[in-house]
Amino acid sequence: MNINALRSTSVKIVVIGNHPAIIQSILDYDYLSGKDTPSILAVVSGGRNFQRFFFGNKEILVPVFDSIQSIPKNVCKEITMFVNAGSGRRVLVSSVEVIDSFPNLQIGTIFAEGVPEKHVLDLGVYAKLKNIALIGPASVGMVLPGVFKLGAIGGVNSKQIQTSGILQRGGVAVLSASGGMVNEVINIVGASHNALSFALSFGGDRFPLLEPVDAVRSAELDSQTQAVVYYGELGGEDEYKIAELLNQNEFKKQMICYIAGTVSDLFDTPPQFGHAKAMAEKNEESAHAKRRVLREAGAIVPESFTEFVQEIHKLKNFGTREVSDTIEIVEERHHRLIASSISKDEQGEIKILGEDLVPFAKENSFSKIAISLFLGKKIQSSDTEELVDFILRISVEHGPYVSGALNTIITARAGRDLVSSLASGLLTIGPRFGGAINQAAASWFEGVMNKKDAHDFVEEFAVRREYIQGIGHKKYRIDMPDPRVVDLKRFADRLEKKRFITFAQAVEKKTSEKKGNLILNVDGTIGAILLDYLSEKEGYTDVDLKRLIDAEFFNALFVLSRSVGFIAHFLDQKRLDEGLLRLTENDVADASI
Ligand code: ACO
Ligand code: LMR
Repeated sequence: MNINALRSTSVKIVVIGNHPAIIQSILDYDYLSGKDTPSILAVVSGGRNFQRFFFGNKEILVPVFDSIQSIPKNVCKEITMFVNAGSGRRVLVSSVEVIDSFPNLQIGTIFAEGVPEKHVLDLGVYAKLKNIALIGPASVGMVLPGVFKLGAIGGVNSKQIQTSGILQRGGVAVLSASGGMVNEVINIVGASHNALSFALSFGGDRFPLLEPVDAVRSAELDSQTQAVVYYGELGGEDEYKIAELLNQNEFKKQMICYIAGTVSDLFDTPPQFGHAKAMAEKNEESAHAKRRVLREAGAIVPESFTEFVQEIHKLKNFGTREVSDTIEIVEERHHRLIASSISKDEQGEIKILGEDLVPFAKENSFSKIAISLFLGKKIQSSDTEELVDFILRISVEHGPYVSGALNTIITARAGRDLVSSLASGLLTIGPRFGGAINQAAASWFEGVMNKKDAHDFVEEFAVRREYIQGIGHKKYRIDMPDPRVVDLKRFADRLEKKRFITFAQAVEKKTSEKKGNLILNVDGTIGAILLDYLSEKEGYTDVDLKRLIDAEFFNALFVLSRSVGFIAHFLDQKRLDEGLLRLTENDVADASI
């Protein structure tokens, strides 16, 4: 593990598993270290798309992905570090997946306990092969003052972080198997005239992924470390390897070691202490034996914890430096009632997607404004803008026979107001009329993702006796195409892959062979073309597209556009003023016979 290199690494973290306290403590450390932006780019966990945290006293939303594959590729490229707070039994699989998914990964810490020893050994081999530094399992992580806090180390609330001493940079490295004790020793160093160069806990398992001797080697090579304070325990033989480094003069800096567990010698049979490794199965593993070998190698090895503290305070003053100007986090942070990412009202200034409303309105077409607001970010391609503008214009109205228009007309003639008449029309939009776009997009998406054959796709619906959304029309047929669809399909000429429109047309070929009216209708065409444009013109990943389908995004443009037609029908009926509509006997078939 190259500490100097880590100091110049861009700190971009993914957290595996949902551990809010660890996540918030990392964000607090970022803020208190004076960073402008949080270091956590993503959390991989079940549940919602975002989770609310604080960056200082400002509430932020951290993206949550249900799997590593769901993380956008551009984000994957940025990630350099990870904290695995997932379950112990899944650590091997999830950590290997992390190592394979983030090309610029440097280091990871593993918080979980109960990781099977064979898994740890296998993971260690794989990480070494891929040159990724791993710390743990059962580790509270590592802190590199002013650079990162990778885990719970140094405290999990802003008060602990502000008083623990991890916000000063100095020359003392603190190493410990125990998470509790690494925090204790960090506090002791922080209370002295020195400060940390770095600190980490190996975790108390028998086979730590980062061996203590390797951490000592890293400390020796670290330009900022002047001394190492090591808190060890009985059990295992790590300290013999450390003593060998000292004896071979491969570690030349000062080292103070406290080895806990001498009480074990008072028992007839060696007791098992908390950590899996904390048991002296043979004399060499006893605290006394380890203290002796370290002392003989030249380390300062106090006999009592009190002396240990005194030795730390006696260390030379290596100098300390705050990692940033004094920054406070005022506790009592309250979560806001709602969250909005598309607009804000800042000191009376309305901002839309981060831009002042009036310039935003002046500089962008209504189509671009609408689709950008629906997506939550500005579209990039003028081709997309042209497509959206055409969809809005071509969907605005389709005659008074259409169910939605008819409901608006009936409601207007019943004397209801604009909004009620509009709502009546809008409530008609659904799986058969106007609201099939999103489900059609879902069908085309499913067919393309699963590389479905069009014939099989159609047969699956037939077997289930389900209608394919986006297929069929009461007016248009294969020999009398919908002129809107003809023009919409021309937008495919600007595409290269055309994945979705190609699949939709293959389905249409199959269905229209069955019945002439089973054409790719305007809903189905809009769904397919929009999927292709978002994918090819706006860089949306398949995961992004799936999230838009789940949010019913693909129905939004039709609802927006056809609201114009419904409002027009309402106003038309107000002008015509024909009074309440009531059917006559000739209008209703007697279905009772
Ligand atoms: N998928 C598969 N089979 C269909 C579909 C479909 N989408 N639509 C009709 N069929 C079949 C029926 O199963 C029926 O077969 P059968 O005679 O063997 O039983 C036959 O075609 C006729 O069915 P109807 O419901 O009478 O067809 P109709 O012409 O009335 O349906 C409609 C038109 C309502 C659009 C229908 O095709 C449908 O519901 N499509 C799916 C929803 C959709 O895409 N709506 C958007 C329309 S465009 C717009 O609203 C802007
Ligand atoms: C529409 O745009 O309203 C339709 O395609 C539905 C219809 O029946 O004309």
